Amino acid sequence: MTVHFIGAGPGAPDLLTLRGRDIIAACPVCLYAGSLVPEAVLSHCPPGARIVNTAPLDLDAIMREITAAHDRGEDVARLHSGDLSVWSAMGEQIRRLKALGIRYTVTPGVPAFAAAAAALGSELTLPGVVQSVVLTRTPGRASSMPDTETLAAFGATGATLAIHLSIQNLGRVAADLIPHYGEDCPVAVVWRASWPDERILRGTLSTIEASLPEGMTRTALILVGRALGDTEFGESRLYAPDYDRRYRPQSADSPWAAWSERDD
Ligand SMILES: C[S@@+](CC[C@H](N)C(=O)[O-])C[C@H]1O[C@@H](n2cnc3c(N)ncnc32)[C@H](O)[C@@H]1O
Repeated sequence: MTVHFIGAGPGAPDLLTLRGRDIIAACPVCLYAGSLVPEAVLSHCPPGARIVNTAPLDLDAIMREITAAHDRGEDVARLHSGDLSVWSAMGEQIRRLKALGIRYTVTPGVPAFAAAAAALGSELTLPGVVQSVVLTRTPGRASSMPDTETLAAFGATGATLAIHLSIQNLGRVAADLIPHYGEDCPVAVVWRASWPDERILRGTLSTIEASLPEGMTRTALILVGRALGDTEFGESRLYAPDYDRRYRPQSADSPWAAWSERDD
């Protein structure tokens, strides 16, 4: 018996990996984090599967579902939104599975920040402008932040920020970042990226809070940084006509020429 953790993606049921879909289809039990995982993803479950929304359960109750499936010898598909590497609560479940000697696998998913960038049609790293993306959040009711992980500290780097779980703190976020990015720095809020009712709000650090419509709460990502508005960026060296590289040696003397011949 194995517990398969599967990243269920940002919302659209077809933004799920083929591997994830096939594992769901093969598992007689499916536990899904119903606050964010869309019910449409559950259409991949086999007929008669036991399907449990874990949103109202605590960790002990989730583990009881898993151990009951273990006793029956039934594999479990465990679905969390986006990818499992960030804010999925997978770590604490794996710790318990290890203690119980229950096998598990992990299948990645499309994270919300990538779906939001796709909705904006934006690359978050631009040559000569910004080369890093910080995935972060602000403190919430259930989670504090380590002292060193402040928006000001990340803002000092000038990286593109993808700020999760924070739409309710939008004013505070903007105020903390203005000293580092400037009032005119572009901001985008992407609400329910990839859902049928997806909405996008664009502005600057000084305007964004006042323009936030009512109802744009909970499932929203705040993206901040010059990459969102900049058209004055360089082109990458990778595709520059004169860039000498393995796949495009510029002359017979190029150190890459031998590689190229070998590849042929
Ligand atoms: C508990 S975290 C889960 C993150 C997820 N594991 C991931 O890989 O993106 C939930 C937060 O992710 C962001 N989020 C998740 N799905 C989203 C979506 N479809 N559109 C915009 N933001 C989303 C929101 O900031 C939300 O508060």
